Amino acid sequence: MAILTRQWSIDSNVNNKISITTKQLPEIASNQVLIKVHAVSLNYRDKLEIENFDPAKIRHPYALASDMAGEIIAIGSGVTQFAIGDKVINSFFNEWFDGNFHGKIDHTIGTFGSSKVDGVLSEYIVVAVDCLVKAPKNLSYIESSTLTCAAVTAWEALIEQGHLKAGDTVVIQGTGGVAVFALQFALAHGANCIMISSDDGKLDQLKKLGNFQRINRSITPEWHLEVSKLTDNYGANHILELVSGSNLNRSVSAVSFHGNIYLIGVLEGFETSINIHPLLFKKPKLHGIGVGSRQTLQNVVTAIETLDLKPWIDHVYAFDEVPIAFEHLKHGAVGKIVISVSK
Ligand SMILES: NC(=O)c1ccc[n+]([C@@H]2O[C@H](COP(=O)([O-])OP(=O)(O)OC[C@H]3O[C@@H](n4cnc5c(N)ncnc54)[C@H](OP(=O)(O)O)[C@@H]3O)[C@@H](O)[C@H]2O)c1
Repeated sequence: MAILTRQWSIDSNVNNKISITTKQLPEIASNQVLIKVHAVSLNYRDKLEIENFDPAKIRHPYALASDMAGEIIAIGSGVTQFAIGDKVINSFFNEWFDGNFHGKIDHTIGTFGSSKVDGVLSEYIVVAVDCLVKAPKNLSYIESSTLTCAAVTAWEALIEQGHLKAGDTVVIQGTGGVAVFALQFALAHGANCIMISSDDGKLDQLKKLGNFQRINRSITPEWHLEVSKLTDNYGANHILELVSGSNLNRSVSAVSFHGNIYLIGVLEGFETSINIHPLLFKKPKLHGIGVGSRQTLQNVVTAIETLDLKPWIDHVYAFDEVPIAFEHLKHGAVGKIVISVSK
């Protein structure tokens, strides 16, 4: 059965580098399924993928985006763990399923929506079943599409790596996708949260999620001094470093003795120089975070169902409105931006 799909692809032949292309999907292999995609959420990473696209170096066109929720409409002959009609979401990587990933140090792990693996911003996709997890029973397709990258990253940091405990203090930078999931997971674990944002209005919106302390970074750019005050000078046990660049030195100042800094975001770039003096004495752990495995996604689904958490969605756009959705992402959404793919 030849299936044609429309997909948003990254392509050097168009001005803004993205366009809708039509592609014929391959026949499904025995371990694959055909999915009708209902919703796709965008991540800052998709913006980086477009900005850093170099047609001379990278196979293109390729479909954009890493996070989808959809319905299985056909299955390969060897598939036993899923059935037609199942509502599923995909893992971020196509080759990291559980535990720690081990490989050669120059190996780039395959991620959906990269030049290595086609993305999911498509009406239909064919995908191997070992990249799939059943979507949470309490969420719609739109809500389920937000979990693959942002929710898994926040959970991998605070819960899998950081073993967050009730009463711990967590500093969260910004109010985007990863930040709002981090807030929801931390509040659900009984942590004290300090949110740092450029915009009081965004923080006001998030008050619906629970109590947290706040710092406006436009008014208080030296936010680490405020964290010291708010923690009676003990510092924060967990800091999600979503910015990097010179901001990392503030995180190093604000972290507690034996605390945790999660290296996640690159909003100010990948390069930085840091003062290691406070690290020598405070002995915090610096955790590199690269989203998480399929098992971490499964753990997120279980938590979302048990706690009945609802992802925070700023806006849902139609399939034809993807360029507008990227403009919104560029200007900073609160929580997640989603594309409704099926009519
Ligand atoms: N390592 C990983 O596994 C991983 C996974 C996911 C994302 N990331 C990275 O994490 C970062 C956030 O991703 P996201 O998808 O959550 O982004 P997002 O939804 O686009 O959120 C970005 C938010 O961060 C704040 N912000 C922007 N520039 C800032 C700056 N210079 N200093 C402080 N805050 C700033 C803004 O919030 P306010 O207006 O409220 O200040 C903005 O809305 C990105 O760099 C992304 O590439 C890494």
